[in-house]
Amino acid sequence: MTQKTMPLPFNPRSAEFRANPYPTYHYLRTHDPLHYCPERKDWVLTRYADIIEVLNNRHFGRSEQKLAKIEVAANQTSIKRLLSLRDESQKLMKLWLVLRNPPDHNRLRRLLRKTFTQTRIQTLRAHIQTKVDALIERVKESGKMDIINDFAYPLALDLNFNKILGIPPQEWHSNFKQWLDSLSSVADLDVTPIANEKGLLAIADLAEYFRHWIVKCRNDSELQDNLISTFIKAEIGDQLSEDELVANCILMFFAGHVTTSHLIGISILTLLNHPEQLQLLQADSTLIEMTIAEGLRYDSPVQGVSRTALSDIQLLNQTICKGEIVNCLIGAANRDPAQFPDPDKFDIRREPNPHLSFGKGIHICIGRHLAKLVAEITVGTLVRSFPRLSLTTDALEWEDGFLGHGLKSLPAPFKSRVERSGPHSMHDSAVIQQPAHCPIMFVRGFQFFKRKS
Ligand code: HEM
Repeated sequence: MTQKTMPLPFNPRSAEFRANPYPTYHYLRTHDPLHYCPERKDWVLTRYADIIEVLNNRHFGRSEQKLAKIEVAANQTSIKRLLSLRDESQKLMKLWLVLRNPPDHNRLRRLLRKTFTQTRIQTLRAHIQTKVDALIERVKESGKMDIINDFAYPLALDLNFNKILGIPPQEWHSNFKQWLDSLSSVADLDVTPIANEKGLLAIADLAEYFRHWIVKCRNDSELQDNLISTFIKAEIGDQLSEDELVANCILMFFAGHVTTSHLIGISILTLLNHPEQLQLLQADSTLIEMTIAEGLRYDSPVQGVSRTALSDIQLLNQTICKGEIVNCLIGAANRDPAQFPDPDKFDIRREPNPHLSFGKGIHICIGRHLAKLVAEITVGTLVRSFPRLSLTTDALEWEDGFLGHGLKSLPAPFKSRVERSGPHSMHDSAVIQQPAHCPIMFVRGFQFFKRKS
């Protein structure tokens, strides 16, 4: 039922709001579908149809942002060095595919397309299954597991870094986790100044890391079949500048990892909070594709994307002035009753399920086939291998932030061992601790795409 007053104000920094934004989404959709936020001077859009309209409209796009200049005295060399790194990071971010408009966007996206076709991604199926099986073997020895840190995180790293970008594990940097965390903080709605600076420094470190790696690849006698090699070939063929190459390696490092890892965690958690749906899936493993789609709809790892008006434009009888930002709340669109019957119900047999969790329009997620495949194999194997998964913990730790959404960890100590049975043996039963009074505590997660600060 929709409330007459807003249950909680739309405030992405408020832990209380982030703990459960859905009642506020419902209120906004019904009473204020194009909501103006005077503090940030931007707009919030919540209805499915309106969001589709904006994401498909060429008058909304990305805007050139002016870099904040900070003046320092001539003798402050160390500060000057820091500031130049910061400027460099901001310049690189502006070159990210996701922040470009046509025609540059088309040129960059074309380069990525071949790597992410559905056929090509399907060739990774056996590799992913082997990895998941090996991770299960590893946790079996330790007697406990954490779905995020033992499965989601290492799997996403292997796929995005090793298989897609083409950097083998022995070349990985010990700061990866820290850089991913900091990068996650740089692109939220209402990002704090400290988080912003940390994110920019992570970009500077990653730029240095990738510049070294690119030199190494260029010196190899022949380029391999991976995304970085594709970028290098494009750079040699004058289709890409060196900065664009470095910038988009950083984007790919970040965009594919955190989201996929969050999808696996949220999918398992949502299933555990709906035991009858979990049982349905366990009884019929062919439902896995629909289960992941419904998990994406029900609690999206990306809660929103933003667009800037490229000219004055009318939307829902309001004039959106050129340069103003409209935040399209995917999480709200995915629960719009005008699009999804009984939208607050988690129903793994929901069909059709045109959720917006991968976005829409020219920026629709390029890695969606990969993310779905990894989640389907991982979640499918976990629920099959641990048939008595359940929740018992009294606190789940969620990443900070609003636009991105994911768990920091999802611990699952083993309860008892069961006999192996058949090719997909049941390894153990696992208990994830959570209080009896679920629903889940939603404390929102990592940040995703850059918006106007
Ligand atoms: C559950 C996992 C994922 C979710 C929920 C997700 C979500 C999204 C969304 C909503 C967008 C649109 C952004 C916008 O319109 O502003 C997007 C774009 C993008 N995603 Fe994903 N993503 C996921 C996984 C991945 C993976 C695995 C990769 C790559 C390995 C990836 C790479 C990208 C890139 C490069 C873009 C920008 C595309 C463009 O601007 O043309 N994503 N993603």
